[in-house]
Amino acid sequence: SREGTANIVWHPTTVTKQDRQKRAGHKSCVLWFTGLSGAGKSTLANAVEHELHQRGLASYVLDGDNIRHGLNRGLGFGTEDRRENIRRIGEVAKLFVDAGLITLTAFISPYREDRELARNLVEAGEFIEVYVKCSLEECERRDVKGLYEKARSGEIGQFTGISAPYEEPVQAELVIESDKQTIEEAVQTVLTYLEKHKIL
Ligand code: PPS
Repeated sequence: SREGTANIVWHPTTVTKQDRQKRAGHKSCVLWFTGLSGAGKSTLANAVEHELHQRGLASYVLDGDNIRHGLNRGLGFGTEDRRENIRRIGEVAKLFVDAGLITLTAFISPYREDRELARNLVEAGEFIEVYVKCSLEECERRDVKGLYEKARSGEIGQFTGISAPYEEPVQAELVIESDKQTIEEAVQTVLTYLEKHKIL
């Protein structure tokens, strides 16, 4: 509902994103990790953040499981709830980019349209879609949380890849094949991208 925003005035800030980036010594951006459950989104996002932190850079990981316990508590896994989940994450990521952070998000974000909405919230070049690609067979074989088994038995409904869709990115900035390369190689790929595009 837009009703509540009619009398709200947007205050220009005196300290700008550029000021914050200058202080941090690097640009801010969103590294948007997307992929099936168990593909390795969180693992990779955290490994990248570890490296950024070691280098003294300002970063933050927004992670599916954590956000769904707090900010997005109460949202389920139906199409509309996932859409709202991703919409909010996109808005939070935009704020974090404004705050000067290299923001890493790790959500399945199964719908292309929702990822595009998140992309369009920030400036061109600030949104880096990272497709953490892994075959359903491999994710299911790993079944870290035992959820695929529950999805197959029908105990969990609308499970991504089994009974709910996952729309593969068509133009991701980066594709990481997590069943074909090591974490170290994947981290290096992401960092090389950031360096090449003058974010670091
Ligand atoms: S989404 O689609 O982007 O809104 O999902 P996300 O917020 O990333 O949450 C995915 C994690 O929730 C657990 N889970 C499910 N995933 C997919 N489908 C269903 N029905 C479901 N139910 C619970 C699952 O552990 C996901 O974690 P990851 O880290 O992706 O494995």
